[in-house]
Amino acid sequence: MSDAPLRYRRVLEQDLPRIMEIEAAGFLHPWSEQMLRSEISHAWSVVLGAAEDAPGPERLLGYIIFWLVHDEVHVLNVATAPEARRRGVGRALMEQASAHGRQRACRLVTLEVRRSNAPALGLYRGLGFRQVGVRPKYYAEEGEDAIIMTLDLDPR
Ligand SMILES: CC(C)(COP(=O)(O)OP(=O)(O)OC[C@H]1O[C@@H](n2cnc3c(N)ncnc32)[C@H](O)[C@@H]1OP(=O)(O)O)[C@@H](O)C(=O)NCCC(=O)NCCS
Repeated sequence: MSDAPLRYRRVLEQDLPRIMEIEAAGFLHPWSEQMLRSEISHAWSVVLGAAEDAPGPERLLGYIIFWLVHDEVHVLNVATAPEARRRGVGRALMEQASAHGRQRACRLVTLEVRRSNAPALGLYRGLGFRQVGVRPKYYAEEGEDAIIMTLDLDPR
C-alpha cells in the first residue's frame, strides 16, 4: 500500500464481500452480511468506504457505519483492513463521520467501545473523544464492559 491520499464513497451492495473480509479480520463477532446489507439500505444510516485515491483498480481499505439521528452522529462500526492499519485510515473515516454530522447541524458524536480495545480507544482519544459512561458487561459473550464516549462537534 502506498501513501496516496484517500477518497471516500458510499458502500454499495457489490462491496459487501470486501466489507465482510475487513469485518472478519477486525472483530471477534463480525456483523453478518444481512446486518451490513440492512445498514446500506436504511435512510438514517451512512456506510462510507475509504480507498486510495490512485489510478488502477479500487480496493477498499476501511469503512465506517454511522447513524444521523436528530442532532447526534452515532458511530456503530469502524474498521481498517489489517494491511492498511496505522496509516490514518481510521482517523480519516472518523473525521468524515464528524464532517457529515456538521453538515447536518449535529452537535455530538457518540459511540461504544470495548474496554480492552486499545487501538480504538487510542484512535478516539486522539480525536478528542471523552469517556462519559460505562455499560457494564454490554458485550455479553465475554462479559466485557462498553465504554461510552462522546465528542462535541463545534461548527466550523
Ligand atoms: C481501531 C482501528 C479502526 C484503527 O484504524 P487505523 O486505520 O489503524 O487507525 P489510524 O492509523 O487512523 O490511527 C489513528 C490513531 O489511533 C491510535 N491507534 C491506532 N492503532 C493503534 C494501536 N494498535 N495501538 C494504539 N493506538 C492505536 C493512534 O493514536 C493512532 O495515531 P498514530 O498512528 O498517529 O499514533 C483498527 O485498528 C481496526 O480496524 N481495528 C479492528 C476493528 C475495531 O476494533 N474497530 C473499532 C470498533 S469500536
